[in-house]
Amino acid sequence: MIRCVSCGKEYSNDEIIYTCTDCGAILEVICQPDVSKEIFSCRKQTMWKYKEFMPVDETKIVSLDEGGTPFIKCNKLGKELGIDLYVKVEGSNPTGSFKDRGMSVGITKSMELGVSTVGCASTGNTSASLAAYAARAGKRCVVLLPAGKVALGKLAQAMFHGAEVLSIQGNFDEALEAVTALAMKGQLYLLNSVNPYRLEGQKSIGFEIVDDLGWQSPDRIILPVGNAGNISAIWKGISEFHDAGFIEDKPMMTGIQAEGACPIVNAVQKGKSEIEAIKNPETVATAIRIGAPVSATKALRAIYDSDGYAETVTDDEILSAQKMLARKEGIGVEPASAASIAGLQKLVDQGVVDKGEQVVCIVTGHLLKDPNTAINACVEPLEVEADINKLAEIINK
Ligand code: F0G
Repeated sequence: MIRCVSCGKEYSNDEIIYTCTDCGAILEVICQPDVSKEIFSCRKQTMWKYKEFMPVDETKIVSLDEGGTPFIKCNKLGKELGIDLYVKVEGSNPTGSFKDRGMSVGITKSMELGVSTVGCASTGNTSASLAAYAARAGKRCVVLLPAGKVALGKLAQAMFHGAEVLSIQGNFDEALEAVTALAMKGQLYLLNSVNPYRLEGQKSIGFEIVDDLGWQSPDRIILPVGNAGNISAIWKGISEFHDAGFIEDKPMMTGIQAEGACPIVNAVQKGKSEIEAIKNPETVATAIRIGAPVSATKALRAIYDSDGYAETVTDDEILSAQKMLARKEGIGVEPASAASIAGLQKLVDQGVVDKGEQVVCIVTGHLLKDPNTAINACVEPLEVEADINKLAEIINK
């Protein structure tokens, strides 16, 4: 069953529907299987380990073995900050971001529905992922990208996997509005996170965190927030495992946004349950350059219900956290992902994160997604003759 998050109107699982026909609010899939957690043991480490919680036809699954991503204990950084820190590395998914989890379920749903064309608007990662999964499923794929604002690696992926790429003269919010209108006209099956099946896949990040911690909830989960689907999805996953009796506690959901694109933070800091859209969002973290997040209602509910928090970080804080994580812990992430680490540092300084807390930071996309930003942050390599004496002289300097 699909249900409106605002008025509670119910829809059947075979309807192609994105928002409530009565009140216009976003929808969620209701999923509460009656299973014991013992069934998960000895299964392959992908997100389909938890298939009973995935509301799609098991015989139609389109998968690239997404999920089962590294869960890295960061002792050096954790010690400096006085916390118990883990990093969930979503860049290790097949196309290099957490979007693959949502796309696996979303494309599986498109197989059930028998649609021929799928599409999305994207700041980059969603389009890269959709292009790959659509290719695997043999579906036509149309993606709308904000012109000039998509990191090179993501653009290369979308094009190379054969998506029809349209560069929109406008930002992500405008591209999303356009592609939604196309979907409403029946031109394509929309696979942005307004499609509630996307979040069904992404909720597996929450499943894996508590499974990785031996069926315990961490004190806090920190992640970057853009269109606000992922924070909503992870909270849904955690809540489903809690309702199933698999865990006793739930984490404080903590969302981090870039200073130039922070409608959720503004709402949380004023205690509001609705956002005010930001017209011209701007940040070096192009993945989260979003002013009107479509899943805002769900995200705010996750933050308030979990006694969580939301905070901004500057572009400089993002870039220095990105470099610090790469050099101190060996984890290479794209700028948006580093917002979670920059946010953690700020919240420790502010005393919002307590000493000794167990914190999981989600790093959402791989370093190589945005090679230009990485190269610009480094000094150019020295060009040297292949002469052993000259090389030795330089190395021993
Ligand atoms: N981190 C990365 C690397 C992302 O690509 C995104 C979103 C987010 C964080 C934020 O997640 O939107 O669920 O709050 N990227 C989308 C895209 C918008 O089109 O690839 P969110």
